[in-house]
Amino acid sequence: MSASPAKPENKSETIDQRANALLAQMTLAEKIGQMSQLDASHGYAPDYLADALRDGRIGSVLNVADVNIVNELQRIAVEETRLGIPLLVGRDVIHGFKTIFPIPLGQAASWNPDLVKEGARLAALEAATAGINWTFAPMIDISRDARWGRIAESFGECVLLTSTLGAAMVEGFQSDDLSAPGAIAACAKHFAGYGAVESGRDYATTNVPETKLRNVYLRPFKAAIDAGVMSLMTSFSDLNGIPATGNEFLLRQVLRDEWNFDGFVVSDWDSIRQLQIHGLTENDKESAFEAAIAGVDMEMAGDAYSNHLAELIDENRIDVQIIDTAVANILRAKFRLGLFENASTTRADLPPIASERSLETAKQAALESVVLLKNDNAVLPLSAERLNSVAIIGPLSDAPYQQLGTWVFDGDIDLSITPMHAIHSLIGHDVNVRYVRAMENSRSKASDSFDDAVEIAADSDAAILFLGEESILSGEAHSRADISLPGDQAELVRRIRETGKPVIAVILAGRPLTLTNIVDQVDAIMYAWHPGTMGGPAIADLLFGIESPSGKLPATFPRMVGQIPIYYSQKNSGKPPSKDTIVHIDDIDTRAPQTSLGMTAFHLDTHFTPLFAFGHGLSYAKFDYQDIRVSAHEIGLDDSVTISAELTNAGDVAADEVVQLYVRDVVASITRPVKELKGFRRVRVEAHDTVTVDFELHTSDLAFYGRDMQPTVEPGVFHVWIGGSSTTELRTEFRIVTSK
Ligand code: BGC
Repeated sequence: MSASPAKPENKSETIDQRANALLAQMTLAEKIGQMSQLDASHGYAPDYLADALRDGRIGSVLNVADVNIVNELQRIAVEETRLGIPLLVGRDVIHGFKTIFPIPLGQAASWNPDLVKEGARLAALEAATAGINWTFAPMIDISRDARWGRIAESFGECVLLTSTLGAAMVEGFQSDDLSAPGAIAACAKHFAGYGAVESGRDYATTNVPETKLRNVYLRPFKAAIDAGVMSLMTSFSDLNGIPATGNEFLLRQVLRDEWNFDGFVVSDWDSIRQLQIHGLTENDKESAFEAAIAGVDMEMAGDAYSNHLAELIDENRIDVQIIDTAVANILRAKFRLGLFENASTTRADLPPIASERSLETAKQAALESVVLLKNDNAVLPLSAERLNSVAIIGPLSDAPYQQLGTWVFDGDIDLSITPMHAIHSLIGHDVNVRYVRAMENSRSKASDSFDDAVEIAADSDAAILFLGEESILSGEAHSRADISLPGDQAELVRRIRETGKPVIAVILAGRPLTLTNIVDQVDAIMYAWHPGTMGGPAIADLLFGIESPSGKLPATFPRMVGQIPIYYSQKNSGKPPSKDTIVHIDDIDTRAPQTSLGMTAFHLDTHFTPLFAFGHGLSYAKFDYQDIRVSAHEIGLDDSVTISAELTNAGDVAADEVVQLYVRDVVASITRPVKELKGFRRVRVEAHDTVTVDFELHTSDLAFYGRDMQPTVEPGVFHVWIGGSSTTELRTEFRIVTSK
């Protein structure tokens, strides 16, 4: 039945030409069908899908992950519809498909774009076996509030780190050739500002001034577009009074007019109809109007477009040009994916699921994402030779599903290797490994088996506690107001501490937790996030010194919730705090309360610094930075400078170190952050070796959106630091001058 007009007439026909030629033959109903995506997850029998497809009511489905169903739907689309337009098949492939990599926040702790890219490549190869050709990732919302459950899906708080890793993920999913088997379209989400939801409550409102929007929240999206991302998803949230899904400023002015994005925009789940709930529109018809006018090309899991667009065009409220542009945006993606040449999936074209390469990469990603937060008296690494016995305790020691983290629709639990099993296989033949789970889950308040845990700890040379949060405590709609260890975990730590044995806490969690109440009760803390399928073997290798930890924090760890938002790139304020200008609530002199108070920007009941700073992460090596220098003390407005330092590993083991470069634009026409990450690199340093690390900075790297909302580089002094965390004090400076 298909007329197959979409086949190229000749090879030199461009994708634009093919899309436009096809568009010219489409009826309005067929066009609106392309703009509609149907949820196929619950209760939709394949027959229903097939009928909707034959009727031209859908251009995309989400949440069908069965290759036979997908192939049949594609066959119907290609052979049994008038124009033979294949389907986009979307799925949340967020950090792996069957093989699960660490949660994105964990991957961000690796500061390793190559590894993030490889993880996405392997996830795409696995997902493609199910006929999936479009993933709703990467999530590149800057996240500075650990209460927000979706921080787990993000790359954390930093503009450069998020931009770099987001772009790497896009490249990994899409590969060099989007039409090759195993390449899938990426979707950068959620455009924009979602991470700024008030008090970290998911879906809540956001208020972000335009300079901050442009200097912080939008930048990762521009980077994803520069990396060739095929699609963007709107955010559920309200941005400065206009929900993102109906926000013309974002979707037309910035995205199309300024950035010339030529991919397509999908709404979030039913977020077009939610414009009414936000209070922006009166009904679904008006919601369809607002979203279409704003520039949403495809509606996810809703029927506002399919029910109302035709009528809105009939009434001349929407110009058909708007519809044509949206459909052309979508069709180009289908052409680029090569779907018109071949829409069906042949299993033999793709590598096996959970291949050796996938599992090794998942382990490497877990290894590089674990952050050693604390290691008093070098209690770690543990030595299997010197230990006779070790106690493994805690609700997350042997929880194969929980260690996978949020958004693992397709993750294979049977592949998951837990820390308990991995430690057994690594040292079980030499060391007596005892295990008491002690708590049913992280939220449990029953302490009945604490005595058993104390007993095995007391009988062992060291206790390793696997604590944290189950996967369900983070992710979408799973925000928390109290982000300390839930349940009775702190009490468990206290009881184990009383044994006097070395206590090592390994934390598995989907967000930075406030660890203030346990930090002094343990000798070491390893932060493993939700480390994925191979989390166990990676953690075991790190605990026993087969590998050295090298992860660095992609988000600041507050001491208490009241410090939020706390992030390294804060503004200085007019009264910045220092050690000498603060006072603790317990030390206020009540006879002269005013004079004893420091008049600076701090809280009376906690320190002004976080518990662990952005970029922090210890190693079994001993890194020391010295001799920072610049290649020029003055550079022109369109010029470069090289900043270098010497990095010595004074320790006895070789290890990776993530070297970080920070900059401060000291005086500017709008105030700039006290530090901004401007470069980073993971380097391997042999024991007792010194390497030179250098970063080239171009003045365009220092540009910011100023008062006129245009990117600008202003002359003046720039402080620069190199070091192993955002607290580095190794500083020099250079100046940008107008005439050079
Ligand atoms: C989420 C998106 C996700 C979509 C499809 C929504 O609820 O906000 O991030 O891609 O569902 O599952």
